[in-house]
Amino acid sequence: MTSRSGDDGAGVRDPPFITVDDFEPIARRVLPRDVYDYYAGGAGDEWTLAENVSAWRRWALRPRVLTGVGERDTSVDVLGTEVASPVLVAPWAYQSHAHPDGERATARAAARAGTIVVVSTTALGSLEEIASASDGPKWWQLYVFADRSVTRDMLARVVSAGYRAICMTVDFPVNGLRHRDTRSGFHMPVGLPGDDLVYEPNLTWDDVAWVREQAKMPLLLKGILTAEDAHLALEAGVDGIVVSNHGGRQLDGVPAPITVLPEIVEAVDGRVPVLVDGGVRRGTDVLRAIALGAQAVLVGRPAVWGLAAAGEDGVVRVLEILRDEFDNALALCGCRSVGDISRSHVMPAL
Ligand code: FNR
Repeated sequence: MTSRSGDDGAGVRDPPFITVDDFEPIARRVLPRDVYDYYAGGAGDEWTLAENVSAWRRWALRPRVLTGVGERDTSVDVLGTEVASPVLVAPWAYQSHAHPDGERATARAAARAGTIVVVSTTALGSLEEIASASDGPKWWQLYVFADRSVTRDMLARVVSAGYRAICMTVDFPVNGLRHRDTRSGFHMPVGLPGDDLVYEPNLTWDDVAWVREQAKMPLLLKGILTAEDAHLALEAGVDGIVVSNHGGRQLDGVPAPITVLPEIVEAVDGRVPVLVDGGVRRGTDVLRAIALGAQAVLVGRPAVWGLAAAGEDGVVRVLEILRDEFDNALALCGCRSVGDISRSHVMPAL
């Protein structure tokens, strides 16, 4: 298979699409080299990028047997929305570079898979257009612009368009050093909000309250990596935390999110949901995350590759594969539902 195969749905259910990794080589073939590198790449020497994937393997599973797992339920409630499995679609930029239908295709795919899609501030279509692309639940990922009136107007539109939560990204005061993009000369597309406007590099905890005031809906902070900041987030009254290092794209050398998840879960102590993203590639990773105290995970690059390789159907298939693998891991760990997963289902592998 050498081209986008699945716009009509054909092919994505067959080999080579067995795991989510199988979409990546197809995406690499169909995308221009600089766009592929922009999506695939990380910051600096890409140590964190690689660590994000490998750190999951340092947690081994502790299965229980003879628990009667014939009937299983992979669904979970995330901030009042029931999703088919604890795998959400992470916000990612410039999706129409991956496929002409871009964010609308991803939104439709998430709805078909029964999950939440987080739409990026850098979306190339209007936020209303993306909101109306599907009936499925959507959250808005927020970058705060230096010109606050732009952000205020954006948040008013986000509320009217029916987004259910704000996911404010806090790990982007400045761009990470992405050497692949410097080498390839990759430029952001023109005509974006962020094109002539700059993200606020001076954001502080005071701005979190301001954002909450503008959009009276659940507010999550995305990009927390320490217990100290988790405590401050709780003091700021957030409704959820996304443990994330931006897919290894910001500061090279930070730990994988799964490595710091336990300290953050301990700091939060059940007061708000904790989600995690970065390097989730298998259903067993989803189980590991939940065992370590996350409520759900988000996937970035698997959705990127699914969209690039096979459009909307590709993203649906990626989400189905992860749900099926998670369901299999659930059964083989002796669990019937997400609520059955506990800390005792994982142990350090080393
Ligand atoms: C991202 N990510 C991201 N995050 C965000 O808050 N706003 C954004 O606009 C983007 N854009 C973006 C573009 C691309 C190409 C990628 C790969 C990622 C980060 C994203 O939401 C998420 O944190 C990571 O992608 C998770 O890691 P994995 O699943 O890609 O390993």
